Amino acid sequence: MFKNKSLKLIEYYKFINHNLIYNNKAINRYKKDNFEIPQDKVKNLDLLKKRILSLKNCDLKKHAQNIVFSDGNPNSRIMLIGEAPGANEDQEGLPFVGRAGQLLDKMLSAIELDRNKVYISNIINYRPPDNRRPSEEEIKRYLPFITKHIEIINPKILVLLGSTAMNALIGKDIVISKMRGKWIDKKFGNCMTSVIITFHPAFLMRQPAQKKMSWIDLKMIRDKKKQL
Ligand code: URA
Repeated sequence: MFKNKSLKLIEYYKFINHNLIYNNKAINRYKKDNFEIPQDKVKNLDLLKKRILSLKNCDLKKHAQNIVFSDGNPNSRIMLIGEAPGANEDQEGLPFVGRAGQLLDKMLSAIELDRNKVYISNIINYRPPDNRRPSEEEIKRYLPFITKHIEIINPKILVLLGSTAMNALIGKDIVISKMRGKWIDKKFGNCMTSVIITFHPAFLMRQPAQKKMSWIDLKMIRDKKKQL
């Protein structure tokens, strides 16, 4: 009965503008409602989402409840990319809404950012069953979509959360312990951006001692943002 009610609420949030409902800060609600996203950006994002929705023979999609496309401000100059949705994200159709997402929100707020000021997506748009890591095949299949997604958003700063995002977008033979905390200039289609790799919040929950390294990375993002 309760579950049914919350499922209905989720449907309702999707129908209206969920971002507006989840954010109870009046001033932010006002801002969010007034994003003036250029028409071609809206069109391209919509087209990209439709292309992902029309994927055929995808087992991930077959097992998932919802596509998890993105959250945040499409006009932002900061884009964050995680691995793949988990159970909560699958249910709500939004990235990083579970426990890792709560930590991500705290990390963002430590450098005066929030979901209205950044744009968030994942390498994979559908939840892998049992929250397993996406396979190489799956990553290969979804890579053109996230690459196009980056090109459309055209961020000045691209934050890769964890090794799946790093290995998919930067290179396979690299390890996060060596690559994190460095700026890398990289081109995705027509988008030239500064990439920084940092630990995934789910990893930080398992290894809290690494939060000090993550804080170094966050400060680098804060300083770079000031230069934009
Ligand atoms: N972990 C991710 O990588 N992405 C999400 O959206 C949620 C958890």
